[in-house]
Amino acid sequence: MIKKLSIQPASGLQGDLSVPGDKSVSHRGLILGAISQGTTILHHFLPAADCLSTLTALQKLGVPIKRVDTTVTISGRGLHGLTQPQQPLDMGNAGTATRLLTGLLAGQPFETTLVGDTSLSQRPMERVRQPLQAMGAQVQLTAGHLPMTITGRTLHGSCTEMQVASAQVKSALILAALQADQASTIIEKLPTRDHTERLLQQFGGQIETAPDQRTITVQPQPALVGRSLTIPGDFSSAAFFVTAATIIPNSHVRLTNVGLNPTRTGFLNILRRMGEPVGTLDVRFAQLHPVQVTATEIPAVIDELPLVALLAATANGISTINGAAELRVKETDRIATIVTELRKLGVQITSQPDGFVIDGRKSWRQPTEPLASHGDHRIGMMMAIAALRLAAPAELESAEAVNISYPTFFEDLARLSQGV
Ligand code: S3P
Repeated sequence: MIKKLSIQPASGLQGDLSVPGDKSVSHRGLILGAISQGTTILHHFLPAADCLSTLTALQKLGVPIKRVDTTVTISGRGLHGLTQPQQPLDMGNAGTATRLLTGLLAGQPFETTLVGDTSLSQRPMERVRQPLQAMGAQVQLTAGHLPMTITGRTLHGSCTEMQVASAQVKSALILAALQADQASTIIEKLPTRDHTERLLQQFGGQIETAPDQRTITVQPQPALVGRSLTIPGDFSSAAFFVTAATIIPNSHVRLTNVGLNPTRTGFLNILRRMGEPVGTLDVRFAQLHPVQVTATEIPAVIDELPLVALLAATANGISTINGAAELRVKETDRIATIVTELRKLGVQITSQPDGFVIDGRKSWRQPTEPLASHGDHRIGMMMAIAALRLAAPAELESAEAVNISYPTFFEDLARLSQGV
């Protein structure tokens, strides 16, 4: 396992890259395959730690699943075919898997306990417990966190007005609604990634999103049918290389096979405003202008905000990011970890309760202490990209965090990086 890595500066990034499968879609493909009738085959599945937590949890719920590299075959058990696991399910670091499975297990006729690693055990679960309880679910938390025990019940169709803009909570409610006694309506605070809605339709579910893009109606007790799916490349993984090519002179990278679901690509809109005319994911170095990012666009760029901060740290002025308090409850408090890490490079960045102010005009300096992931995959990858731009090699601690979403990240980076 990688621990501390030395990141060499790069004089440019060059070449083509097909990024690994989408993490959000891989989780959902597994879950929907498990509750469908018949066989589901997932191609270009992401075999990263988070998705493997979901795969193992579903096996322990009695679903036969086989994986060969990036191809997964699921023998679906139907909506009522899961069985009680012998032991608590260990969800590792996977917030998405935890929230989605809570919604699914809330309607199953048995009791399940979910546990997770130190980071996951500090993340808020009340946001999923409370709306599920309104549907009749019984979910018991430990001071608002994992360990969590879900006692399956008959669920009632309901109308839920969501309190947080969260695709994980929305998806938990959709999975619960599939098992309810009548139709359910979910009203989002802001539109969030809609992979669950799209995939559910492909598996034969009846789900509709109103033209306001925020009101979702789910019909209960569908007969879902297994299918074959090719998972697109993860936009969030591609974004690291979009950023690297943009901030390192002499770069030209072509990213192929990237999922471009518009609920995920807010990062491209922001980058466009900063001066890089991205149309296809054909990315070259560019001098960037500062950018102002506000609340309504946060859900479509939530996982790329560390990269927006990094880009802003190279722009010729002051950038602000607001309305992003959700960053405080990710794998780490990302507002705190981004500020700590970018300051090691001499970046002028200050935190706000819900974002940052970043002045990109000051030159960076060589860090006097190692860079660190803080155990957070996206912070580790962001700092590896930042280190490419330094004059000398920099150490990156706990680099193995990349295994959560992108196990081949350092190999791909080495292949595209041209040494100084
Ligand atoms: C995800 C939703 C987002 C995102 C996470 C993946 C999903 O989380 O940050 O990486 O797959 O539904 P929230 O729902 O907590 O915003």
